[in-house]
Amino acid sequence: MAETNRQILLDRLPGADKLAPEHFRLTETPVPTPGEGEVLVRTRYISLDAANRAWMQGATYRSALEGGQVMAGGALAEVVASNASHLAPGDLVFADTGWQDYAVLPGKRLSKLPPMTPMTHLMSVYGVAGLTAYFGLLDCGQPKAGETVVVSAAAGSVGSIVGQIAKIKGCRVVGIAGGEAKGRWLVDDLGFDAAIDYKAADFKRQLRELGGIDVYFDNVGGDIFEACLFGMNLHGRIACCGALSQYDGAPPPHGPRGIPGLIVTKRLTLKGFVLYDFEDRREEALTALKGWVESGQLKVSEDIVDGFENTPAALIGLLAGENRGKRMVKVR
Ligand SMILES: NC(=O)c1ccc[n+]([C@@H]2O[C@H](COP(=O)([O-])OP(=O)(O)OC[C@H]3O[C@@H](n4cnc5c(N)ncnc54)[C@H](OP(=O)(O)O)[C@@H]3O)[C@@H](O)[C@H]2O)c1
Repeated sequence: MAETNRQILLDRLPGADKLAPEHFRLTETPVPTPGEGEVLVRTRYISLDAANRAWMQGATYRSALEGGQVMAGGALAEVVASNASHLAPGDLVFADTGWQDYAVLPGKRLSKLPPMTPMTHLMSVYGVAGLTAYFGLLDCGQPKAGETVVVSAAAGSVGSIVGQIAKIKGCRVVGIAGGEAKGRWLVDDLGFDAAIDYKAADFKRQLRELGGIDVYFDNVGGDIFEACLFGMNLHGRIACCGALSQYDGAPPPHGPRGIPGLIVTKRLTLKGFVLYDFEDRREEALTALKGWVESGQLKVSEDIVDGFENTPAALIGLLAGENRGKRMVKVR
């Protein structure tokens, strides 16, 4: 075990600025000792999520982050010492460790994960990304074979799985992502039917030419949400998963046009969801996801950045669109 605990602090909140390296600071403290009922874990892979940035803006489904704290975040972690009877050294857990080598957590909040090779799949397809894609698309989107499904942030961790599940369900799938290279990857490697670059000057025209949308899986909000809203078919469904176009910078000056008029005239359903609402159906989703991965229908895309000290840059890069699939940092 290392002598010290490296920690990355969110030194100060970015406010309406873009997230930058100077918002973080590396420090070292002694390795903590677990008390009664507590567990000491060592982080192996830190999860990078667009939500990390959203938490800096105010309370979401978790309380707002404050400057000076260890940067919050989930990680795949290994138990080092345990005062909880259901966990032993060597067990793997997914835990809210924050960005640090070691964390002490209440044992009752931790569940042992099954051993898996590679273990990173526990944080991508069998973790938050896969489960969010599964429940958001199938529960909120209700796609039917032959329908057109459009997903934004399509080359990201959630979006890349959403599109593939929609294909498995017999839908026509269009991904929206930044840049031609990502679009080619979605079509050639992941089997999407088409991809549109939202940074292209004629993005809206390209979207219109692809025809009406039955299900829109919205990861981004803002202008892309608005463009898709105008393209929805009668009785279309919009699964509202996140608003990452609005996480990193000043809030937009106005909301999307077309609300509520288009919702009424097109009889649309917009449904927001948070993954934690589906805790009791976790096994159902994992069984389905495993079946698709094992049959080769669902490709797992992971983007692993090496080195704990690179975690801030990895998050800043994710917000700028560097990643394909699930981004995480290998701590050691
Ligand atoms: N509801 C839930 O329970 C739940 C759970 C997990 C995640 N989420 C949400 O799921 C969404 C995806 O998150 P993630 O962590 O998986 O991130 P991600 O999709 O892996 O990565 C973010 C991607 O978003 C794209 N992006 C960045 N700025 C954008 C903008 N202004 N407009 C359009 N696209 C932009 C970038 O790709 P480009 O190159 O394409 O720009 C980037 O690669 C987020 O909204 C997150 O909050 C929700």
